[in-house]
Amino acid sequence: MIRLAIEAALEAGKFLKQSVGNIKTVETKLGQETNLVTEIDKKSEELIIGMIRNKYPDHDFLAEESGSHDRKSEYRWIIDPLDGTLNFTHGVPLYSVSIAVERRGEIVAGVVYEPNLGELFTVEKGKGALLNQKPIRVSKVDRLIESMLVTGFPYTIRDNPNNAVQHFVNMLMKAQGIRRLGSAAVDLAYVACGRFEGFWEVSLSPWDMAAGVLLVQEAGGRFTDFRGSASSVYGKQVLATNGLIHDALVGILERGFSEGVATSRS
Ligand code: IPD
Ligand code: CA
Ligand code: CA
Repeated sequence: MIRLAIEAALEAGKFLKQSVGNIKTVETKLGQETNLVTEIDKKSEELIIGMIRNKYPDHDFLAEESGSHDRKSEYRWIIDPLDGTLNFTHGVPLYSVSIAVERRGEIVAGVVYEPNLGELFTVEKGKGALLNQKPIRVSKVDRLIESMLVTGFPYTIRDNPNNAVQHFVNMLMKAQGIRRLGSAAVDLAYVACGRFEGFWEVSLSPWDMAAGVLLVQEAGGRFTDFRGSASSVYGKQVLATNGLIHDALVGILERGFSEGVATSRS
């Protein structure tokens, strides 16, 4: 299954790369003006599901564009066919394909592929995480002021869900630096390989994080909700770090919950 996930991610990545500059339809989703979907997202998903179904016709799927296909299998493939659609539509060469395999409710394998840099992150539960076939580990930095963090914002950011804006301000004041790359799957993969010390985001979907969270865990990092409690890929909040700065980030997030911030609606 991991081999098939890799093949499908490489194929989809090649397709995405070829399709840049050739987008014909851009639509908005869920009534949110900034939440875009193109025909390339949909075709990438069809390509991936087609390849997997060919080999495993009875498996279940949870995929961003076509939703859930439930055949009561013990296996479920969780797919984001293009993570970083906004980057993609603007020609920013940073986006990814994320594919994870869930078995009886537990994520057991995953792939995050970034086609422009040719970086393939792969992971199998209990077998460690790899970048282009070489083992990766989270960073050993334990001071916040030496930590580079990364985050993302939901399309509903103008409603400031979970005090998202306040958390961002608070993190900015404590970390060495903060980045916003535009692909949550890549953010998590970069925590796994030690480029970032930590990642948080207030509201993600399972397809954004399923492969990335296992990458972080297998690379020696920690994944919880914002209060530091065990979470799952269905839990929305993501806090994923090298483990060493985790409690410090929980402290900052806890403070952010009690603080208010002005939003466009207030
Ligand atoms: C988005 C990206 C982004 C994150 C958003 C996601 P999409 O996924 O992962 O980094 O901040 O919350 O929705 O829409 O490009 O697949
Ligand atoms: Ca996504
Ligand atoms: Ca997507």
